[in-house]
Amino acid sequence: MADTTDSRTSPADITAAVVSSFEGAGDERLREIMQALARHLHAFATEVGLTEQEWKQAIDILTATGHITDERRQEFILWSDSMGLSMLVDALANPLPEGATESTVLGPFYVPGSPAREYGSRMDEEPAGTPAWVHGRVTSVDGSPIAGAELDVWQNGEDQLYAVQRPEAPEDHLRGRYTTREDGGYAFLAVRPVPYPIPYDGPVGKMLDASGRHPWRPAHIHMIVRAPGYKSVTTHIFDRESEYLDSDAVFAVKPSLLRDFVTHSADDPDTPAGVDGEWVSVENDIVLAPGEDERPIRDPGRTG
Ligand code: BEZ
Ligand code: FE
Repeated sequence: MADTTDSRTSPADITAAVVSSFEGAGDERLREIMQALARHLHAFATEVGLTEQEWKQAIDILTATGHITDERRQEFILWSDSMGLSMLVDALANPLPEGATESTVLGPFYVPGSPAREYGSRMDEEPAGTPAWVHGRVTSVDGSPIAGAELDVWQNGEDQLYAVQRPEAPEDHLRGRYTTREDGGYAFLAVRPVPYPIPYDGPVGKMLDASGRHPWRPAHIHMIVRAPGYKSVTTHIFDRESEYLDSDAVFAVKPSLLRDFVTHSADDPDTPAGVDGEWVSVENDIVLAPGEDERPIRDPGRTG
């Protein structure tokens, strides 16, 4: 008599075999992650009906991503950024109490070890754009001022570039560490940032182009704010008038981080020392949540 049970292997059987292959993983978290990865990866391929040609194309893209990545260029993080994964992981890892300053992407252009600079001093070491007087207070969520908080700041110039992208630029150009005064106040002289494209000469750029997406980020200044007894926050000041606020290539805009860049004429009595010509000012208060960092914020590798 013929065997009536169907002994053929189905796609679901393949998924089940892969999921159960991780049952023996000694580390419980590793098991959870690998089993979920197998389930979601298989569900993804099944949902889109992934063809062999598309699978091969994906392998070629991953290979190209590896080839373009080195200690200065991190294309894998760029994939994470451009797919919104960096923002999602940040949101999941850093739930904040009401009122605390929101975090956003670190980005690839952070270089630890910026010089300590005086209250109100400039960050540009060569002409880089319209002077921007950035000031505010760092407080706790209960409103009390935080003296001695550190603001580790970096930004691009009007040529769209960060100093690390220009080998000929002074090493400390457009970056610096500022410390709050007794009243929690801080101030520094930056330049008005401009929109710029994320590096788009590699696989991520090809994906953006093929998908009808652009590589641009809206104008912003980066900062990491740290103080003992508080959770550090990695954040941006976004220019409320910038282009691309509603289509940031890395999904990093949060409405609470938009700020007004107010224009002043050269004869304004509040013109900062050393500024001639038109300038802008930005008020940006920072609110820190009490706590400790789980681990120090590290340089994930540069891009571009
Ligand atoms: C940045 O803001 O510096 C940045 C963030 C993500 C990708 C590329 C650049
Ligand atoms: Fe940036």
